Amino acid sequence: MRPRVLVVDDEESIRSSLRMILEFERYRVEDASTGRQALRRVMTRPPAAVLLDIKMPELDGLATLSRLRERGHDMPVVMISGHGDIAVAVEATRLGAYDFLEKPLERDRVLLALRNAIERRRLEDENRLLRGTPSELVGESAPMQELRATIERAAPTPATVLITGESGVGKELVARAIHAGSSRCEAPLVQVNCAAIPDELIESELFGHEKGAFTGAVRRQIGKFTAADGGTIFLDEVGDMSARTQAKVLRALQSGEIEPVGARATVTVDVRVVAATHRDLLAEIETGRFREDLFYRLNVVPIHAPPLRARLDDLPLLVDHFVERFAAENNYRRKTLTGAAIRQLQAMPWRGNVRELKNLVERLLILTPGDAIDRDDVLRLAGPVRGELAEAILAVSTLREFRDTAERLYLAKKLEEHGWNVTGTAKAIGTPRSNLYKKMGQLGLRRKDAT
Ligand SMILES: Nc1ncnc2c1ncn2[C@@H]1O[C@H](COP(=O)(O)OP(=O)(O)OP(=O)(O)O)[C@@H](O)[C@H]1O
Ligand SMILES: [Mg+2]
Repeated sequence: MRPRVLVVDDEESIRSSLRMILEFERYRVEDASTGRQALRRVMTRPPAAVLLDIKMPELDGLATLSRLRERGHDMPVVMISGHGDIAVAVEATRLGAYDFLEKPLERDRVLLALRNAIERRRLEDENRLLRGTPSELVGESAPMQELRATIERAAPTPATVLITGESGVGKELVARAIHAGSSRCEAPLVQVNCAAIPDELIESELFGHEKGAFTGAVRRQIGKFTAADGGTIFLDEVGDMSARTQAKVLRALQSGEIEPVGARATVTVDVRVVAATHRDLLAEIETGRFREDLFYRLNVVPIHAPPLRARLDDLPLLVDHFVERFAAENNYRRKTLTGAAIRQLQAMPWRGNVRELKNLVERLLILTPGDAIDRDDVLRLAGPVRGELAEAILAVSTLREFRDTAERLYLAKKLEEHGWNVTGTAKAIGTPRSNLYKKMGQLGLRRKDAT
């Protein structure tokens, strides 16, 4: 895939020379001559990286960068400065700039900075699971103790594991615990979210491809199975794979060999498979959406993560855990919940399970005034978030921005409600799955808390 780069500079000569350099290297280039124009471009179509001039009239580079971050765009940004200005550099770094280039621009420096920025982001995305926040499974209730015992028994074996459970119950944490408890723990744990990858890409994503295997395959790329060699591959949302992908994965599991797209020979890999789904695979087999033979391949050791409502005893522990984590990681003030507040929480249905609880704890910490959180605060803040849209609308200037912002918030909310399951969300809001993917790409919507 040719990465898309956004070049932002008020000087036409700089824009055109950068365009020439980058296009020669097969980047796709878009440009903008003002900060505002840049923000609009990013909104409609987030690039892989941004080259951003610091000195521009009106909205300068720093202000543009800070707006980008405020709006949740986290792509790498390389700043272009006129001369070494330490104070500006410090401020830009604080805002999350990845690198600096000084004018006059040198071709090789530009290309290197850009390549590093994009490569680093790719690795970060890939390793998110490994680097992520503490993976502790909190809870002392009987179902949690049983879950932990099963994990401990299964982890050291080479057996394939299938984790089931509703959305937000911690299936990802279970997968990480299994990898961490295995002899493969020093090798990579590679996660593939099968629901998030469009069908036409998943084969090359999983198995890799040779250079020239299809239009756009400009260089050879290794797949996730190869990246996980010696370690564990985590096939998340495995119930969302198409029939075609199911067949390929089955073949890989049966033979221990993979076949990169466009390759003549197969490659042997040593990979332990952990899969997860929130779907009822037996029901999916009944309706013909999931292959029975693949199910039995995956379901060697079944692990079920219980819903929060089946272990409400754990709720106080979980609340403490999240208060502590938000305090340590985000500097939120520690607050205590009254007994009545806890009882109110225990009376709620928790269809979104631990993820929903975590989000509510964060909201409570941010939006309550004092040091204590009471039942009233819970009642007031547990409902749907209001006001967010109204605020966002006031903050934008053009109709286009309004439309994008509204769409972004709406889709983020719906995706959240459906545990970022694209198929389910698309169905619920009455749009084709392909359209939802397209929108997510255009609006840069990605699941945030995939810790
Ligand atoms: N037992 C637990 N202890 C601490 N944190 C938990 C626990 N279970 C879930 N969480 C937290 O809740 C959030 C959701 O968990 P996770 O992403 O693992 O859910 P999931 O089962 O994979 O959901 P989905 O089916 O929607 O992908 C994460 O932030 C995770 O850290
Ligand atoms: Mg998950």
